[in-house]
Amino acid sequence: MTQRTLVLIKPDAVRRGLVGNVLSRFEAKGLTVVAMEQRHIDAAQADAHYHEHVQKDFYPPLRDFVTSGPLVALVLEGDEAIEVVRAINGATDGRKAAPGTIRGDLSLSNRENLVHGSDSPESAAREIALWFPQL
Ligand code: CMP
Repeated sequence: MTQRTLVLIKPDAVRRGLVGNVLSRFEAKGLTVVAMEQRHIDAAQADAHYHEHVQKDFYPPLRDFVTSGPLVALVLEGDEAIEVVRAINGATDGRKAAPGTIRGDLSLSNRENLVHGSDSPESAAREIALWFPQL
């Protein structure tokens, strides 16, 4: 089934010059870029995006990180796009993510893990509406 998913190419990827590397993996897989924009978000947008994590111990440094510089937000579309993107991204912790995935190849961190992908159809709908209300 064709799905849309919200992806963030996080500030660590922008700082490290990895936007093209990350984006090319999604494009090469056959996913379509429906919308894409570079943004430098504030704490309110971080809290809205990560509302389910706001109370967690790891959240304050995560908020600092995602607001620390520009990121690239995009909506990708394709068959089973939500699961496909999560497989391409790899496990949350870059130290444990499988080689061949974005995080497995390029991240050594549980926080600075380069990308975010919606984790369910419900999350995708909520996150796309938050980031790209015009879609
Ligand atoms: P993401 O897929 O964007 O979803 C939540 C984010 O929180 C995650 O990627 C990581 O950047 C971060 N995160 C999740 N768990 C931890 C943790 N235990 N310690 C630090 N950061 C975390």
